[in-house]
Amino acid sequence: MGATDTNAFSEIPVLSGGFAPIAHELTLDLTDIEGEIPKDLTGMYVRNGPNRRFEAPGRYHWFDGDGMLHAVRFKGGKAQYQNRWVMTDSLQEEIAAGSALWQGIKDPPRKDRPDMPMKNTSNTDVKFYAGTLVTMWYLGGAVYQCRPDDLSTMGKLAVDPRLAGLPISAHSKVDQRTGEFLFFAYGKEAPYMHYGVMDRFGKLKTFIPVQLPGPRLPHDMAITPNYSILHDLPLFYDMDAFAAGRHKLKFHHTLPSRFGVVPRHGTPEQIRWFEASATYMYHVSNAWEEDDGQGGVEIVMTGTPFRLPRDHKGTLDVAGFPKMLANLEHDFQFHEWRFNLRTGQTKERVIDDIVNQEFPVINCWMQGYKTRYSWNVLMGRLNRAEDPRFCGFARYDLKQDTCTTFHAGVHKWFSEAPFAPKDNWKEEDDGYLVGFMWDDEKNQSYLTIFDAHDISRGPVCKIRMPQRVPNGFHATWVSGERLARGY
Ligand SMILES: [Fe+2]
Repeated sequence: MGATDTNAFSEIPVLSGGFAPIAHELTLDLTDIEGEIPKDLTGMYVRNGPNRRFEAPGRYHWFDGDGMLHAVRFKGGKAQYQNRWVMTDSLQEEIAAGSALWQGIKDPPRKDRPDMPMKNTSNTDVKFYAGTLVTMWYLGGAVYQCRPDDLSTMGKLAVDPRLAGLPISAHSKVDQRTGEFLFFAYGKEAPYMHYGVMDRFGKLKTFIPVQLPGPRLPHDMAITPNYSILHDLPLFYDMDAFAAGRHKLKFHHTLPSRFGVVPRHGTPEQIRWFEASATYMYHVSNAWEEDDGQGGVEIVMTGTPFRLPRDHKGTLDVAGFPKMLANLEHDFQFHEWRFNLRTGQTKERVIDDIVNQEFPVINCWMQGYKTRYSWNVLMGRLNRAEDPRFCGFARYDLKQDTCTTFHAGVHKWFSEAPFAPKDNWKEEDDGYLVGFMWDDEKNQSYLTIFDAHDISRGPVCKIRMPQRVPNGFHATWVSGERLARGY
């Protein structure tokens, strides 16, 4: 088995075309520019994603690759690109061995490695916390820290001994206003979930067990200034198969979705569970607190659950739904839940079931506060199985109840594009969407910058990348002001 050679993967859908891994780590000024890089854009865009270093025996899945950060730094109308692997413990072991030591998620875990039966690739999310870039893995594991100035890996985030070995989920939240790191961890043994908060220096302030009815597969959480919202969704294991040691997914459509609302620094006894219609979701757009008009507080949460598959009679395709997930077939709607802390009741509504979109982003300074806008990624429908295409963007204006979209045909593959506020921004949408785009006809990657106020005009600036940037997962924007402040 050799190191990454893109030709070796050319027949494997999840490792060919725009998904093929790259072999080089570069640091280069970007000079091939259409339009103008905005001069009021200061900071860095960083995107995480899978980039397999070694061939491995067994079956491949897009999610398996080793984490690689791709960053573009902006200052004074100029931009510089850099990419580096996240040097996880497992990748270092493989480099030392000169070959893959783990198979992917489609194959059985390693029985001889109870410390790491599956490879924590740290390839899923990236946030700015405690002055560093922290990378995380969707199945949960140690969090890695990288230096913002050169993307080099510092090692695992040092955590309180109470968190040792705890699989911290990919979608931990950083509250930009306090610098706190809010996280959940989930597993196969009771109590099945934990929730915690670290302060901006890494000190564990809150850590509580969250008792669930059984093992669950939550992907995200939400925060407001005073509360955190945890997910218990009815798509999880077939428990008969689970008892026999197999991990077969099942949609338990007769169970409700449950959302646990807990004070940010609360106790297990303070968790209040709200029931909602059965669904499964990956990502939250935002959450906030509202006065319910009768002296109570209502927690509002927006996000992008699946549009559940149904047959021509409208009957839910219960068995088809887990297969849809496994094949990365994507059909999503935009949704709102309201959890009333006074009455204990949930109200929910579909915001949009027309546009297929996911990966919502907001102006992150407004995380936890009422937001008017959400910018989501359009999901293409022409994809092969296991080959999702992010084909453009949708801009939701929740005040006007409108949606504006931009896409550019079937050959453009976009990427999660975080909202990058202009220097000295005032209005919520005073900024840009910054993200990578791969053109499959030209086999060329670009960085695109959209005016967040009007995405329909297409990118205001398009920068040719010096190498293809493989399709990836989550990204973040770290403003110059945050870099200087350290949280
Ligand atoms: Fe995610």
